[in-house]
Amino acid sequence: MKKIGVFTSGGDAPGMNACVRAVVRTAITSNVEVVGIMQGYKGMIEGGENFVPLNSRSVGNIIQRGGTILKSSRSKAFMTTEGRKQAHKNLMAEGIEGIICIGGNGTFTGAEIFFNEFGIPSIGAPGTIDNDLYGTDLTIGFDTAINTAVDAIDKIRDTADSHGRVFFIEVMGRDAGFIALAATIAGGAEMVMLPEVREDHHKLIDFFRSRQQSKKSFSIVVVAEGNFEGGAMAISSLLNKEIPGFESRVVILGHIQRGGSPTAYDRVLATKLGYGAVNALLAGEKNKMVGLLNNKIALTPFIDSINMKKDLNADLLNLISILNN
Ligand code: F6P
Repeated sequence: MKKIGVFTSGGDAPGMNACVRAVVRTAITSNVEVVGIMQGYKGMIEGGENFVPLNSRSVGNIIQRGGTILKSSRSKAFMTTEGRKQAHKNLMAEGIEGIICIGGNGTFTGAEIFFNEFGIPSIGAPGTIDNDLYGTDLTIGFDTAINTAVDAIDKIRDTADSHGRVFFIEVMGRDAGFIALAATIAGGAEMVMLPEVREDHHKLIDFFRSRQQSKKSFSIVVVAEGNFEGGAMAISSLLNKEIPGFESRVVILGHIQRGGSPTAYDRVLATKLGYGAVNALLAGEKNKMVGLLNNKIALTPFIDSINMKKDLNADLLNLISILNN
């Protein structure tokens, strides 16, 4: 392989830049040219200025930056055959023989379909704050996102304590509760509402009814946005209805969880995975995600990382009811 493309796609995640940097410098060390494809699949289809040759200097001074210098998108056009045909035409015109894609589930699904249609091999690096990819213990951006969430929880805790209030704090995670669970444990929250646990709101109601006896003056509940019963607003109004006189405040952390300088952990993880992705592609691997399992680089077929579900840590989940006494 003489020339490869690299792009970031889907929701951006802190550490994506560190990964791009590792991809570019690893490829250049192996005498392989790298083209950055701006805006992910959207840029691949639109071509032109979206194809940018990258050298070692192009990726200097980015390891500490959040977001992605290659920009990102969620492309609807790539879901169409016409869109993918145009993308293939543009890649051929550039002489790109393989791809490194940094993103999540949707990104890998696109790469898998694209290979089946046009035979261009790709290796994926897991970049999403949600940590919801099978085949890696952690995804790039998760550690930074949970630190951001915990920093916010610490601040809310101060005002919750001063006023003796209940706060429902909504964190990201459309289909997965990894952020919510980690933020609950690290933020010392008393309850968590997760997409994975089809626990009805009665448990929460019981908790707040019995809370009076425990003499707790304030409470923090973390709610994953994709929780089965709805987000933090829905949960809060449910409790307002169920418990007479119940009062609470809602904070939705939203996209602040996606930004900011990546933690040292995310930078190291992103660097390892970027390096591993290029080496896998150059060794002839294709349609696999490079992940970290038990601290070792591991490859998982896209099909599995897309379709298999990564379980929440049951021990952590069980700990919550022990720690919230
Ligand atoms: O996939 C990462 C994520 O941040 C999810 O946690 C969230 O549901 C989603 O992206 C939000 O996407 P968008 O920025 O496109 O609204």
